[in-house]
Amino acid sequence: MKKIIALALVLILCLSLAACAKGPSLADVKKAGKLTVATSPDFPPFESLEDNKVVGIEVDILNLIAKELGVELEIVQMDFDSVLAAIQSAKYDCGMSGITANEDRKKNMLFTDPYYNAAQVIVVKADSTIKTKADLKDKTVSVQTGTTADQGCQDEGIAVQAFAANADAKAALTTGKVDAWVVDNLTAVQMVAEGDGLVILEEKMTEEPYAFAFAFGSEDLVAEINKIQAELIADGTIEGIFESYGEAYMKP
Ligand code: ARG
Repeated sequence: MKKIIALALVLILCLSLAACAKGPSLADVKKAGKLTVATSPDFPPFESLEDNKVVGIEVDILNLIAKELGVELEIVQMDFDSVLAAIQSAKYDCGMSGITANEDRKKNMLFTDPYYNAAQVIVVKADSTIKTKADLKDKTVSVQTGTTADQGCQDEGIAVQAFAANADAKAALTTGKVDAWVVDNLTAVQMVAEGDGLVILEEKMTEEPYAFAFAFGSEDLVAEINKIQAELIADGTIEGIFESYGEAYMKP
């Protein structure tokens, strides 16, 4: 009995600590001189690894934002579902992972204003009989764990196989373990171009906006970043970054 009470107390303590975890203020970040950024760099052209360095559209955008704030970027790599958890618990300052800002996630964390309008697409083998979203009924799709593709397909009653790494979700399709792979549009274009006989269906699953994620408590930091980001959108800088990666910019 005593053990159970002790365990319950430890549990309550842990839960309340997690609930108390607070993101840094603008002043905290300026004082630290750096913005710590959690990312899953398996998502070209937004973030991927080049000679062990994280590069991509979001790295370029956040570098400009950090410069305006007068701080350094410190990038930490992890799986996508860990990025969301790490931001929610304020372990790092900012989540950068082509993160869809949706209502569900807004219950648990803060988002900047969206900076890009993305979509979820369906990828199949070139000779597949799947031609539309409706054809996914009774089929199995691969997704990356914890993504909107994962949740969205489950919500639609589609059987999913989830993988921590995006490349493994793709490999599940190329090796015939699943019938389709649901993933974000620009990442699909890049990873299909690697040439494994895959095609992207015309009909999209969803449209969804990307934003950067922060823990509750970072309200004034997010407000400042929103101002900087709005200017980068208004003066065409962000569009230019997309163009430098050969991609068309879709304003949210
Ligand atoms: N946009 C999707 C989501 O927010 C997928 C993001 C995956 N990002 C990544 N870096 N692997 O759930």
